[in-house]
Amino acid sequence: MVAVTDPAGPVAGEIAELMWLMTWLGGAVFVLVMAVLVVGLLRGRQPAVEPGSAETERIESSQTRWIVGGGVVLPVVIVTVVFALTLVTMMAVSREPGGEAVVIEVVGHQWWWEIEYPESGVVTANEIHIPIGRPVELHLRSADVIHSFWVPALGGKLDLLPDKTNTLVLEADEPGEYRGVCAEFCGLQHAKMAFVAVAMTEDDYQSWLQQEKEPAREPSGAMARRGLEIFGEQECGLCHTVAGTGADGDNGPDLTHIASRGTLAAATLPNTPEHLGQWMGDPQRFKEGTQMPAVELSDSDMEALIAYLGSLE
Ligand code: CUA
Repeated sequence: MVAVTDPAGPVAGEIAELMWLMTWLGGAVFVLVMAVLVVGLLRGRQPAVEPGSAETERIESSQTRWIVGGGVVLPVVIVTVVFALTLVTMMAVSREPGGEAVVIEVVGHQWWWEIEYPESGVVTANEIHIPIGRPVELHLRSADVIHSFWVPALGGKLDLLPDKTNTLVLEADEPGEYRGVCAEFCGLQHAKMAFVAVAMTEDDYQSWLQQEKEPAREPSGAMARRGLEIFGEQECGLCHTVAGTGADGDNGPDLTHIASRGTLAAATLPNTPEHLGQWMGDPQRFKEGTQMPAVELSDSDMEALIAYLGSLE
């Protein structure tokens, strides 16, 4: 099922209802026009009639009825109904959120998503965890060009602008993972600027927040410890943050709990050790134009770096 036709929250539900209504109305108009066309074709050309006769007048007034009725009255009625229902839907989806809203800051970057929970200070990337049954208030902005935030199953789409914060409210009814995308062309890797919205029960959400609040785990084992050294030598911390290690760059995604995430490179690759190594070794192969530089290491050093990052749960 396409996400848009299978809404998983009240906001998306309102939008889907309007979409179906417009689809049915458009379909009915199409069927009506085709039916009239078929009738006209089947009747064929009618024999000529005497100008000024009663028959001519009857035909002319019939033509006028079709033109005024079908060409003016019917479209005005349908467009007015659609306009009114669109206004009702727009008001419904932009209502102030009732209940206790979760506030999340979302910053669009070329080509990934920075996600911050201001109440708890948690920062993550390309994965938005939300509790079900509560409105989620997203404050959207961009660090560079215009992006657009869209989780089709959960709600409408809204632009992220460099100089203004836009607010979008979403809500999920059921736990689940919903794919989100960037819906505004923003450069070479626009198509690979995706993310996952993870809707969780309140308890699961709270324990997720607790875990994310923790600083990065100390590496255990020689290999992961060597990986941490390489992370420092390669100066990964100029762009990435790993809380508790001194790495505090903000050009790239926060890696404090990277191992807890399901995907890499903005939902481009599954988060497995193999993909992590391929990604770090040659990012341009997967995302041409990405600012992530290739990490050139011997196989054993790369393995150690992967082991370290894989320990950051
Ligand atoms: Cu960001 Cu398209």
